[in-house]
Amino acid sequence: MGKDSSHGRSQSLIEQEHSIQNLRSYITVKLQQSGIADSDIETDIIIMEALNLNRVELASSTKLIIPQSQLDNIESILNRRVQREPLSYILGNQPFYGLDFSINSHTLIPRPETELLVEEILNFTENIRSLSVADIGTGSGVIAVSLAIMRPDYGFYAVDISETAIAVAHQNANKHKVSHQITFEVGDLFASTTEQFDIIASNLPYIPTDRISKLEKELSWEPIQALDGGLDGTQVISKLLEKSTLHVKRSSTIFLEIDNSHANTLINLTKRIYPLSKITLKQDLQGFDRILIIEPFDATPT
Ligand SMILES: C[S@@+](CC[C@H](N)C(=O)[O-])C[C@H]1O[C@@H](n2cnc3c(N)ncnc32)[C@H](O)[C@@H]1O
Repeated sequence: MGKDSSHGRSQSLIEQEHSIQNLRSYITVKLQQSGIADSDIETDIIIMEALNLNRVELASSTKLIIPQSQLDNIESILNRRVQREPLSYILGNQPFYGLDFSINSHTLIPRPETELLVEEILNFTENIRSLSVADIGTGSGVIAVSLAIMRPDYGFYAVDISETAIAVAHQNANKHKVSHQITFEVGDLFASTTEQFDIIASNLPYIPTDRISKLEKELSWEPIQALDGGLDGTQVISKLLEKSTLHVKRSSTIFLEIDNSHANTLINLTKRIYPLSKITLKQDLQGFDRILIIEPFDATPT
């Protein structure tokens, strides 16, 4: 069953006949040897994806012998994963807000923190019909698409500086049947739009440039323009705040995903740009300041 290295082919990681049970131990050990945490969880995901099994089928098929063609598929996934390529890129999808999103190496892998941003916008807009929403730095489109599904009467503008990311966002809007609600554009921040929006939502890059090379290996596979927030990490978000003045009306609200350590800097900037603003910070599950909510023209003291 193993590949014959005497014919010039590289030696296979998977050398013998495997049941799911022993393949599981084999993959887990390989992942652990590459320094991957949660190797048990990833092992099960790899096997389920490669064999097209759900969790119940996986649990009840431990003695099943895996055909060579599927072993080859598992081997190629494993070969990529041990190079620390994120599993989401290898499999081409990532769950977000209970939905399945296509992603590739041109888009950030959507993070659970961003689900909080979506949740806050949904809470804020409950019972309000027909709003216009901008998603600045849409990436794979997770914010605009999830909101569009939950708010079918709303219209969306989704923009990204990366043309390839916008192609993926388009694909996700089609997949979830909300493309009629979303106008996509490639460009910098608000690009060519002159519209004023009821809601501006954004998860722009916020990692300081010099920290990027020191992060875990998986991050080096993600697009640099999705991570790099400039010198202190606040450059892109600050520019968005400056430009937002042309795109808000008196009743607008801005929702920004931020890094905990940037809260004070961004609050000070907001107070300078919008002296009458009401500013609210929401924490993530770890208790870190994560979502900055700005109502630019609410004069209530904070
Ligand atoms: C942190 S990722 C977030 C992607 C997506 N919104 C999400 O939450 O998964 C930031 C995105 O902003 C885009 N971006 C960076 N700078 C930008 C700019 N000046 N104008 C528009 N988009 C930008 C990147 O290409 C990337 O897709």
